[in-house]
Amino acid sequence: MIVNDISFKNFRNYENEKIEFNRKVNVIYGNNAQGKTNILEGIYLFSLGKSNRASKDHEMIKFGESSAEINMNFISKENENFGEIIIDKVKRKKIVINDIPVKKNSELVGKLNVVFFGPEYLSLIREGPKKRRKNIDIMISQLKVGYLNAISEYRKITEQKSRLLKEEKVDELLLSVLNEKLFEFAAYIIKVRYEYIKKIEKIAQKVQLDISGGKEELTLDYISCGEKIEQSSVYNIRDILREKSKDIFKREMKYRECILGPHRDDIEFRINGSDLKLFGSQGQQKTAILVQKIAEVELFRGEIGEYPILLLDDIMSELDNLRQDYVLNKLENMQIFITCTDKERFKSLSRGNFIKIEKGSVLECTCI
Ligand SMILES: Nc1ncnc2c1ncn2[C@@H]1O[C@H](COP(=O)(O)OP(=O)(O)OP(=O)(O)O)[C@@H](O)[C@H]1O
Ligand SMILES: [Mg+2]
Repeated sequence: MIVNDISFKNFRNYENEKIEFNRKVNVIYGNNAQGKTNILEGIYLFSLGKSNRASKDHEMIKFGESSAEINMNFISKENENFGEIIIDKVKRKKIVINDIPVKKNSELVGKLNVVFFGPEYLSLIREGPKKRRKNIDIMISQLKVGYLNAISEYRKITEQKSRLLKEEKVDELLLSVLNEKLFEFAAYIIKVRYEYIKKIEKIAQKVQLDISGGKEELTLDYISCGEKIEQSSVYNIRDILREKSKDIFKREMKYRECILGPHRDDIEFRINGSDLKLFGSQGQQKTAILVQKIAEVELFRGEIGEYPILLLDDIMSELDNLRQDYVLNKLENMQIFITCTDKERFKSLSRGNFIKIEKGSVLECTCI
């Protein structure tokens, strides 16, 4: 996949700007707060129709304006595509791909695949499970039509169940009907996540061995309801959940919250058997995330037959020279966008565009 160019109208700190890209590496540089990450956000929007950082769409509209428009030309599956997103303060967000309106975000799935790696991911292992779940959900949503809908249906059921549990007198019959619905979606989500994690693990193991000179074996496990999911149990999850719900019922009634289900699940990273969250050094944790991101790229390549777009936001300065070289060499077959404040570290690049951003404008663009 390749992004040829992107145009912004009243998007973030961009008033009216068109930026053309290199098919290989694009180094977007400039001082802090000039609009580098905003460019990556604009590209990211075309993957699932949502921003990677704004919780509300209208945050992306330039201050004082009533709407924002982003146009992007990109190549996917050897076809040239023209995408348009209009975000309005009052009207519904409009997404059009090749003149065809996209009615639901799920219809965007597969049009443009993106792997995003920014500083916020560096704490992925250290922090709570929410971010880890969100990361895999974003990845799976881009690969699997239907997953996005399943997640949103599941969320509705858990919200409904939580509301019910908060009522003074809980209708137990309604609760068991809701639980059955919940088990159905939960079993699907857990199975899909487990299978995804095992595919990522297989690729990540090779990369981790490579990056550690054969010393470190990485394992990734999907933990559901506090227990590691095994291949043998993945097809009986609905029954397992039903069984567990009997024990958890008392706790759910006590805390008046929906406790059982994949909205509480986690992913565990281990190096040579020990838990990275508890025992890994900061460097080891960072490396494991880098390895996971590289594995995501390779998984996309395997599943959809072409490389996704890689967005590296301010991440290279976090990696030592060895890891930086590894990233640049390993990923030379795909289009990469790198933001940084100091372009000097990319002097050795043989091909690419250097795009200087200042106050929401392209100040300079050099192609080598
Ligand atoms: N809705 C908006 N309207 C106008 N300006 C905005 C809007 N949202 C963000 N900005 C501005 O965009 C700038 C930040 O852009 P961005 O995050 O892309 O910076 P950056 O170049 O990546 O900086 P850093 O190097 O610190 O990461 C800030 O000046 C901010 O005030
Ligand atoms: Mg930034």
